[in-house]
Amino acid sequence: MHLPALSLLLIGLLFPAAALAETRADTLDSERQAELKTLLYQDCGSCHGMTLRGGLGPALPRDRMEAFSPEALTYIIQHGIPGSAMPGWKTLLSDAEARWIADHLRTDNSLETLQQD
Ligand code: HEC
Repeated sequence: MHLPALSLLLIGLLFPAAALAETRADTLDSERQAELKTLLYQDCGSCHGMTLRGGLGPALPRDRMEAFSPEALTYIIQHGIPGSAMPGWKTLLSDAEARWIADHLRTDNSLETLQQD
């Protein structure tokens, strides 16, 4: 049987654990992941550089992002950095989407490092 979206929503409301599982980054479909990638390199990139090499905001290379826990990075993306130009993205991104960007920055990031070899 194919459950309509509303039933899934109700199940999510009745069972908070199930709702929590839905916030996992790996539940996002590939289309949304592609949109988030565009958001990262264009919107975040407007301050951090389109190649994440820095601009108004600092560079975001993978090796530097790995120094943050996934939870800490997700928190920064959701709430921004008060007193700085770094905005919070809570109204634009779901928890799972913020977490997906955090994971992407720590693993698939197109900018490996700023170190020269
Ligand atoms: C309007 C400009 C602006 C935009 C847009 C922006 N940031 Fe930032 N971001 C900043 C600035 C400035 C800082 C440095 C704040 C400070 O610590 O003083 C920062 C800091 C950060 C940090 C901490 C970096 C570190 O090494 O300490 C992360 C991670 C980050 N931004 C990720 C993102 C992501 C992901 C997005 C898009 C969802 C984004 N930012 C969009 C300006 C921006």
